[in-house]
Amino acid sequence: MNSISPNIVWHQSTITRRQREEQNNHGSCVLWFTGLSGSGKSTLAHAVEEELHRHGCRTFVLDGDNVRHGLCGDLAFSEADRRENIRRVGETARLFVEAGVIVLTAFISPFRDDRERVRKLVGDADFIEVYCHCPLQVCEERDVKGLYRKARQGLIRDFTGISSPYEEPVQLAYSIDTARTSVADSAGQVMDLLVGHGKVRRA
Ligand code: ADX
Repeated sequence: MNSISPNIVWHQSTITRRQREEQNNHGSCVLWFTGLSGSGKSTLAHAVEEELHRHGCRTFVLDGDNVRHGLCGDLAFSEADRRENIRRVGETARLFVEAGVIVLTAFISPFRDDRERVRKLVGDADFIEVYCHCPLQVCEERDVKGLYRKARQGLIRDFTGISSPYEEPVQLAYSIDTARTSVADSAGQVMDLLVGHGKVRRA
């Protein structure tokens, strides 16, 4: 039920998720990439998407920096704002799953509780968490966007890894050592995960 008003009634779609999946010839799910800024989440998400696209799968990437230009453009980086960011992304991802799409999300999503809330919302079978495991030192050396340097200079507040925490996944997540694994190999591992979860067939 809607938590604000009892006067909002769910309208059941006549076309089901299963029908959409059958038409697409693959299952839908969320591939949830989590990790520090610069750990390779977006790069990996897009590499996997390219691979899936070649297989004829319907996909979409939700990326932190992009979503924060629109849907979450009113949110900053306090704990409460990050929570709301992940809540909205979780709800959006759920809609994509209903639409029969493989949705790949690339958000730092630093808080375990927030990620677990999305897992519950989407359902265990359709939520595949992938931890892009890369030491802070490596992310900082890469500093692709120059943000770590600014954060160290005190020019950015609440920066993950510097002045705001990142809670590593403890279980249930698949971990990829993105400091040492090539993008192609990492993407291959994620494709294997999708096959293992019965979402796509092996090529
Ligand atoms: S999350 O914590 O709410 O999941 P999200 O993935 O949407 O974060 O956004 C992270 C991106 O915003 C980073 O990749 C970085 O480019 C940028 N950014 C700007 N300020 C910060 C900050 N204080 N902490 C982390 N990332 C920041």
